Amino acid sequence: MPASIVLGAQWGDEGKGKAIDQLAPHSSWAVRFQGGNNAGHTIVLGNTTIKLHQIPSGVTSMDCNLVLGDGMVIDPWVLEEELDRWYGLSGERPEGKRLFISERASVILPFHRLYDSADKVVGTTGRGIGPAYRDRIERVGIRFADIPGVLADEKKIESQISRMNHQLNTVKVDQQISVGDLKANLQWILDRYSDAIKPTGLMIDMALRNGEQILLEGAQGAMLDIDQGTYPFVTSSVVGRANATHGAGIHPGWIEECFGITKAYVTRVGNGPMPTELVLDAGPGEHMARIGHEYGTTTGRPRRTGWLDIIALKDAHRTSGYTGLVVTKLDVLGGLDEIKICVGYELDGKHITYFPTLAEDIARCIPIYETHQGFPALSDEEWIAMADRSRAEEIGYAAMPEGVRNIVKRIEYLSGIPVVSVGIGPDRRASIAKKGGAFDNPETKASF
Ligand code: IMP
Ligand code: MG
Repeated sequence: MPASIVLGAQWGDEGKGKAIDQLAPHSSWAVRFQGGNNAGHTIVLGNTTIKLHQIPSGVTSMDCNLVLGDGMVIDPWVLEEELDRWYGLSGERPEGKRLFISERASVILPFHRLYDSADKVVGTTGRGIGPAYRDRIERVGIRFADIPGVLADEKKIESQISRMNHQLNTVKVDQQISVGDLKANLQWILDRYSDAIKPTGLMIDMALRNGEQILLEGAQGAMLDIDQGTYPFVTSSVVGRANATHGAGIHPGWIEECFGITKAYVTRVGNGPMPTELVLDAGPGEHMARIGHEYGTTTGRPRRTGWLDIIALKDAHRTSGYTGLVVTKLDVLGGLDEIKICVGYELDGKHITYFPTLAEDIARCIPIYETHQGFPALSDEEWIAMADRSRAEEIGYAAMPEGVRNIVKRIEYLSGIPVVSVGIGPDRRASIAKKGGAFDNPETKASF
């Protein structure tokens, strides 16, 4: 059996973690292929909320192997905290048993975090992601496989230290890194993770050849892609379909399904253009932020909010070719009188239906909206009851009130992508799958 991909179709935080949590019980491997702990995935199981930054969201399925793949930049100290939290919750220590770190992944060191703290333009998460990728592209970075060789070579250590301290000076960061610190850090990583560091591309390839199902977990979202996003207000990796297999160490021919995850509205953290942005302190923008709890998982920053943008969504679809769309947080729009969907932009008096290249141009785009009647707010329990009924009676979207279903149909029509699942609350059960679609699977008991 082949591989499926889950990708963010907006600016991140679309609810990928929940979709992955639903698919993981049907997969024997869940693989992160890019990014690092700039990502934040939230999984809600009843009263328990799990926040993950690097551990694949498939962790909640005990039979699922987990890979931090070749294309990632990994902060070993943050990983340790995540693993400890998972141990506290589940009593499981998966590292080296079902959780593996790619030898080819790059190490995020304290230097990278310090360097990232100087960012004043992009509004990064400050986790050292860009600096770690920069070192990789400059071919001076340290991958997990490289650690023993660096530790054994004083010259390599010296040259790393002088480069790091020089660069910190350049961006006016006061702290410096010592030889002792770097050595101790690298040695700690080896001691802590040597059982888990593996040639994971080979392992995943072998699993595919054995007929196993692989789930590739994207992080961030299409508009944050280094090549195709709102540059320079982007992250530093390729987040789309094309990098999913590459960053996992397998080839694109294995892909069967590629799911794009989109909220029923848009949010963004950090700087950069978002044409449908609303004000945060009143009206529908405030409603989305408050009802949708729109605060960053990683940084706690309030997220900017706006109406769903079909132009941005179609731009994401152009390069990632979604076979199915998952619309999340539709419940959040409940209680608004009107729901708007952006179907075009006006730029310098011209009507356009594509996403411009320059961030300045995107920022000047005036959205053209179509307006739909809103639907009433329901309680979490009422939404879950609707989803339960959809499953019990096997009626898919027919369980939704007409006003809700109309929005789903409209998104499907405008985007040209089949909507395979609709999220109507944070709980694992609060989703309605399209009848006969890829998410219409027999309910699996979470193994955790
Ligand atoms: P970096 O990835 O930390 O370099 O940050 C670059 C931009 O991407 C900033 O605007 C961040 O807020 C944004 N960003 C990075 N990761 C995520 C994510 O997982 N969700 C949402 N925004 C993100
Ligand atoms: Mg997130």
